[in-house]
This record gives sequence, C-alpha cells and structure tokens, in this order.
Amino acid sequence: MQLTDRINRIQISPTAAVIAEADKLKAKGVDIADFGPGEPDFPTPDHIKRAAIRAIEENKSKYTPAGGIMPLREAICAWHKRELRSSFEPKECVVSVGGKHSIFNVVSVLVQQGDEVIIPAPYWVSFPDIVKYAGGTPVFVETLPKDGFTVRASAIEKAITPKTKLVIVNSPNNPTGGVVPPEEYERILAVCKKHNVWLMGDECYSHFTYEANKPYSIASARGAKDKVIIIGSMSKTFAMTGWRIGYTLGPEALIQALIKLQSQSTSNPTSIAQYAALAAMTGTMDSVPAMLAEYAKRRKRIVEGLRAISGVICEWPGGAFYAFPDVSAHLSNGGGRSALANSDTEIARMLLDRAHVALVPGEAFGAPGYLRLSYATSLERIEEGLRRLERFFAHAEAAA
Ligand SMILES: Cc1ncc(COP(=O)(O)O)c(C=O)c1O
Repeated sequence: MQLTDRINRIQISPTAAVIAEADKLKAKGVDIADFGPGEPDFPTPDHIKRAAIRAIEENKSKYTPAGGIMPLREAICAWHKRELRSSFEPKECVVSVGGKHSIFNVVSVLVQQGDEVIIPAPYWVSFPDIVKYAGGTPVFVETLPKDGFTVRASAIEKAITPKTKLVIVNSPNNPTGGVVPPEEYERILAVCKKHNVWLMGDECYSHFTYEANKPYSIASARGAKDKVIIIGSMSKTFAMTGWRIGYTLGPEALIQALIKLQSQSTSNPTSIAQYAALAAMTGTMDSVPAMLAEYAKRRKRIVEGLRAISGVICEWPGGAFYAFPDVSAHLSNGGGRSALANSDTEIARMLLDRAHVALVPGEAFGAPGYLRLSYATSLERIEEGLRRLERFFAHAEAAA
C-alpha cells in the first residue's frame, strides 16, 4: 500500500508490541510475570469514578470547547500552582487526550522539516517518533547510570545547533527513573533561554519520587514562563491511564495554536473524562501518597532482587515506577559472562518464551544492554518474576 513518507518514518510503539505479545500468551492460559506495562495497577480513586458517573447521569455528554471545559482548565492551573508552585492562567492551559496527545500536538505546532529536537537518552519510546513524524530530527544526549541518569545542562548546550528548536526533559524519567535535580534543571533552562530554544518538561511522573527527591516543576523557576512548556497527565498520578486526559501549560499563543489543531482533529477530549479529571484536580489527593508508599516497597524489593542476580547491575531509580538493569554482561559482546544472546531484545524474547517474564528491551529506549521492568505490579508477582529471572540467568551461566 502506498502510504505517506511521514507514517513510514515511525514504528508501532515497542512497549505496545511487548504488551501485545504477553497478552497473546496470557490468552492461551500461560502464567506471565508481567513487568511490561507502564501503568499503575491501582484502580482509579472512588471520588473520581463517582464524578464521572454523575456527569453521565447529568447528561454532560455533549461537545465541549475543543481545548477542554473552562472549570477543568482553571482547576489544572490551580492544582499545578498548589502542587508545583507555577503561575499559569486558564488561557495558558489546554486539555488533551492524554499526555502523549499533548506532546504530539506541541511538537506538531513547533517542529518542522529541518528542525532538531534534543532528547536525553535513554528516552521514552514516543519522543523520537513524534519528532520524526513532524519532520524534525531527534538529537540524543546520553545520560549515564553513574549520574543517576540525570541529564546535564552542559551536555545539552554541546548538542545545541542553530537548527535546535526544542529540548525535551522527562523527569522523573521513563525508563530510567532518573530525576533531574532542580539546580540542574534551572541550568538547563538558562541554556535554553540563552540559545532561544523551547524547553518541554514532561511531568507525567511528577508525584512519584523517592527519598530526597521531591515533586518539582521547572515552571516554578524564575523567568521560566516564556520558554517553558509543561506536559502533565492524569494517567499515572491518579491511576487514570484509560480515561485519556492530559494537559499542556505554556504561553497563550502556543495554547491557541494547540486549540486550533484540536479543533480540526480530535475536537474535545471525552466530556465524561474531563469531569472525572476535574474531580481529580479538586478532590482529595490521599490516593497518591498511598500509591507512592506501595511503589517504594516494590522498588526496594525489585532493585535488591535484581542486584542479587549475577551479571546484573541496577541503579536505584529516583522516581517513576521502573527498574532499569544493565544486563550487558550477559551479551556476547558485553564482557562475555554467559554470552546468553546478541542483544537485549533477544534476551527479552527468550525471557518471554522460556521464563514467561514480560519486560521491555533497552534498545526500545535507545539503551542497548538494558531491560526495563515496570514495578507497577503486586509484591507477590514481583517475587515470582524475580524467582524466574534468577533461574533464567543462573541456567545461562551454568550453560556457559
Ligand atoms: C514519559 C511519559 N510521557 C508521557 C506519557 C503519556 O501518558 P498518557 O498519554 O497516558 O498521559 C507516558 C506514558 O507512558 C510516559 O511514560
């Protein structure tokens, strides 16, 4: 079939592909220890569900303004101000169909053929493809485990060229869990301002940080507002992945362009989901620390468990809900511990087929030699998965 160049420039999301493979096996009755999906295993809090039911009963089922209902835009600004010390007004806010849609639209209105977009690697799988779809070129800046996968302002500055349009910072990061410390983030902002480049802060995991790391938004920094674009989402913070509500905060002219794009594409996000999001933004936040406490227990268990496996190196993730171990010692070109496989993708495939463990290979995130395990799953399943991983790598070493 003759398709456009732009669709041929991108691939199906590799995380979606892993989930589909695992689901196929599950449908055949195979018991999978599933570390694949990047979504909370908790239900949406009751007060949010009730608000949606009320919205249905009150027939709030008509078109809304393309950029979202005004009470929700107001509530997002108030929530962001309270939680993350920003100062956006409703005209600087647009509601979209999830954070991914928000990012897609921002890149669509800012990036065109010939533009470069700086993306720290390892990166969330969708960033480069969204940039490519818009005709731009992703430029990767490496982050390292010994730095806690924090991106440095100096590294970003080195990558900036006259073609650079946008820098994307995702903190806490998917897949590494890396958190950019506020001082470094402010240095990144200063670099962006100096070179007249947009800075997009993806805050989808803002409220899932551990130990000394606290929720932080670059929008709270002095002088941020003219160059900073914030992406937020209900998906992770309120366990609302399926509801599809995200938002963008930024300069009014940009927001107007985003609303124009939505008016000619998706129109408004689902009206019912917007009322649910309104309850999330204005109601109790009790569920958030409760989820975080659970993630903290799981993080401890999974990182300790992975570190106990021979040839596996795993840093402590500073945020989000992913462990990102380095398994390169088990690759044929990685120091030859067990020479189990040629790539992490092959290891992930073997783990799914032989050990019935689902996880995402690092190559999908621009990080060959790594695996991503989501610990948004119960402690019992983590224990079971660790047992299978230990056995798998022990066999590999014994066979070597
Ligand atoms: C870093 C990052 N940004 C954005 C998103 C988008 O989430 P959603 O579209 O569900 O809001 C995700 C989801 O996995 C993510 O990991």
